[in-house]
Amino acid sequence: MKPENILITGASGQVGYELTAYLNRCGFNAVGLSRSQLDITDFDSIKHAIKTYKPQIIINPAAYTNVDGAETDIDMAYRINRDGPENLAVLCKTHNVSLIHISTDYVFDGSKTTPYHESDEPNPIGEYAKSKYEGEIAVKENMNDYLILRISWVFGKYGKNYVKSALNWAKTKDKLNIVDDQIGSPTYVSHICGAIAFLLKKYFKEETLKWGLYHYCGLPTVTRYNFTKIIVEEGLKWGFLEKAPELIPVPSTFFPTPAKRPQNSSMDCSLIWETFGIYQKEWREGVRHIIDVLKEVK
Ligand SMILES: NC(=O)c1ccc[n+]([C@@H]2O[C@H](COP(=O)([O-])OP(=O)(O)OC[C@H]3O[C@@H](n4cnc5c(N)ncnc54)[C@H](OP(=O)(O)O)[C@@H]3O)[C@@H](O)[C@H]2O)c1
Repeated sequence: MKPENILITGASGQVGYELTAYLNRCGFNAVGLSRSQLDITDFDSIKHAIKTYKPQIIINPAAYTNVDGAETDIDMAYRINRDGPENLAVLCKTHNVSLIHISTDYVFDGSKTTPYHESDEPNPIGEYAKSKYEGEIAVKENMNDYLILRISWVFGKYGKNYVKSALNWAKTKDKLNIVDDQIGSPTYVSHICGAIAFLLKKYFKEETLKWGLYHYCGLPTVTRYNFTKIIVEEGLKWGFLEKAPELIPVPSTFFPTPAKRPQNSSMDCSLIWETFGIYQKEWREGVRHIIDVLKEVK
């Protein structure tokens, strides 16, 4: 039997950090490497990590994730989000390693009025989104045993995210202007880790997976405004907030940003359910966990 080693990139990031800890808690032999230990833009760095840790599968959450920054830092965004996954795919194929690559709901332009399915054609509208989509293409073109997992509106206990920001704004401000014309599916990092752990169990048991492209996100789909409303409700309910700020719905144009965001990036997750039995979870549970963490550090 082959060794059940897992290598995780971007292990100091929001997803990479929790994923490494989660998989080890589940009993997997998972090694998480931060950018200084494994730089996905550097072929030799990847080769060295493969030789050292002998993974059977690599999970790649490493990315350039500054959506607005990518509009000016274009070369760096493409080096990390397109060339990085390409390097990984080429070396995974050479060394007979499988790959789970993490991608994003932002590959869609948001013009659809219903959730996006894997069969919908991407049409990314900013440099971050385009570089991530080109990363997906690079993986598909360079290897066979890959699974691309698109996730959306991610928040976890570790690192910066919208839930933590919204709770802190709500604590310090009486009025908050919140965008109400963007729809998406928030996803709690721990739920992503659970889905990946499930995939890995299957992979090690069957020594393969039904490779391909899958969507995975939380339930329910909401506008940014309703997401914030629920975050505030939970903050009040669990004693993090003493009073609710007034939430004022505003259009996206109220906050001009260098990169446009898709108006609808909700995703249909029926394929991952039908293929693997992995079901979507309620993100509200994650908001409660974040509140517990913030209460502890108060
Ligand atoms: N956050 C979201 O809302 C969201 C939504 C949809 C999809 N996603 C996708 O989910 C994945 C994980 O996102 P996240 O929220 O965990 O992002 P994150 O917190 O920004 O983590 C990304 C990690 O990648 C590392 N990294 C950057 N360049 C690298 C390189 N050349 N080699 C190795 N590591 C490198 C970063 O290291 P440094 O800290 O040293 O820069 C950081 O630790 C990404 O693929 C992202 O596109 C995220």
